[in-house]
Amino acid sequence: MTTDGTAPEARESAARSPFMLSTWSFGERANAAAWPALAAGGSSMDAVEAVSIFCEDDPEIDSVGYGGLPDRDGEMSLDGCIMASPEQCGSVCAIRRHRHPVSIARLVMQHTPHIMLAGEGADDFADQHGQQVEELLAPRAREAWVKWKQENPDQARGVRPVDRDRGGQLFASGNDESRWKDLHDTIGVLAIDEQGTLAGACSTSGMPWKVPGRVGDSPIIGHGLYVDPYGGAAVATGTGELVMAICGSFLAVELMRGGAMPRDAITEVLDRIASRSDLKPEHQLAVIALRPDGHWGSGALRPGFRLAASDAGGHQLLEPEIVRLPGT
Ligand code: GLY
Repeated sequence: MTTDGTAPEARESAARSPFMLSTWSFGERANAAAWPALAAGGSSMDAVEAVSIFCEDDPEIDSVGYGGLPDRDGEMSLDGCIMASPEQCGSVCAIRRHRHPVSIARLVMQHTPHIMLAGEGADDFADQHGQQVEELLAPRAREAWVKWKQENPDQARGVRPVDRDRGGQLFASGNDESRWKDLHDTIGVLAIDEQGTLAGACSTSGMPWKVPGRVGDSPIIGHGLYVDPYGGAAVATGTGELVMAICGSFLAVELMRGGAMPRDAITEVLDRIASRSDLKPEHQLAVIALRPDGHWGSGALRPGFRLAASDAGGHQLLEPEIVRLPGT
């Protein structure tokens, strides 16, 4: 397995084999769960859905699915999308009764002429397609919300804007080494199968304590995720507003379509974000990208991001190739 631009020959051979790339440390165990089917000839679309379901079911992940942190009023809402090409993509946002936004997004893609369903309509559509109604707010996430509300009464009443807009990490503890392993946000996953078909998905409970109704980048095609069979695939994680403002995933893929290597495409996305005049210390954004020929890359605005890469050689948790603002 290669982790940067140093061994293109190795990547050329990897391009003919299944490969999977996921965001954050929990991506490693999700990849491990989905890998056997992909390695046995399964489709990349099935693999990215399986990785998403794994994370959506894990109550320990406080930024995705069950276990995610709620909005300012203590209500949960989930967003997600899936994509293989501009003709094959689906999305849902602000669902409140179902745990698996990526699976519902895939149903939208397969059974409607639309790309995106929102809110109550998306939940009703999920009911009609046999998706199970489940509790989304885990006891631990509710306790975290109660504590936040007590400590931030003005923000909880909406009198002051929420000032903590970095996803996840609420349950992080211990020394620095153990803390970075707990930093996380949206699960984003990209895969290529043995047919050479690319697919991607992302799933999130959104920004903790968000203003009710807020939707971030994750379910919006071209923002949180974009896949073009001729250009490649890119997925973003972190403060959604940063990537939404520049159509970041589309930008990365469009640059790769023009011939850029993933690391150069990601550098351009991060440069545009780093040049904002209103960047805050808590803003974090990371991108992973994969070209159809198997070249891949990763980068983050600040230290702390990790990604998981899986191929026939096993599963690895890696640091990103690029950290745009090191030492912050
Ligand atoms: N990246 C997830 C969100 O901002 O909602």
